[in-house]
Amino acid sequence: MSGKITFTMIKPDAVADGHIGAILGKISEAGYKVKALKLTQLTNADAKKFYEVHAERPFYGELVDFMSSGPIVAAVLEKENAVEDFRTLIGATNPADAAEGTIRKMFARSVGENAVHGSDSDENALIEASFHFSGREIF
Ligand code: CMP
Repeated sequence: MSGKITFTMIKPDAVADGHIGAILGKISEAGYKVKALKLTQLTNADAKKFYEVHAERPFYGELVDFMSSGPIVAAVLEKENAVEDFRTLIGATNPADAAEGTIRKMFARSVGENAVHGSDSDENALIEASFHFSGREIF
């Protein structure tokens, strides 16, 4: 049974490139309700913790440096089948492989600077939402 919540970040590349409004527009058009939203910046320690699952990967250092390099938009989103549908909406991790019309195809720079994050499971969506937001910031 699929949950109704996913978590996303608009990453530093897409914020710097001026795509916040367009990406939030695509998310809204896809039927997601915004439950929480903020412009913020991860510290290096925050990014290390958030991406701990990738600590052994060769790109971990690069990922942590990039994700803490500038402001991001963090959001909690609600819709039926939220996690799976969001991953379809954003497209493949590497924008070169992403389908036409997906957020990464339209706005990402590269596999490392790929415009948006989307949770990969219902369980992680809740963990990631509570990493970024307190209970009183989620509506
Ligand atoms: P995301 O799925 O949000 O979370 C893990 C991130 O690791 C992924 O987005 C990419 O931005 C990043 N990533 C995956 N593969 C590579 C790679 N080969 N080089 C650099 N970054 C990568």
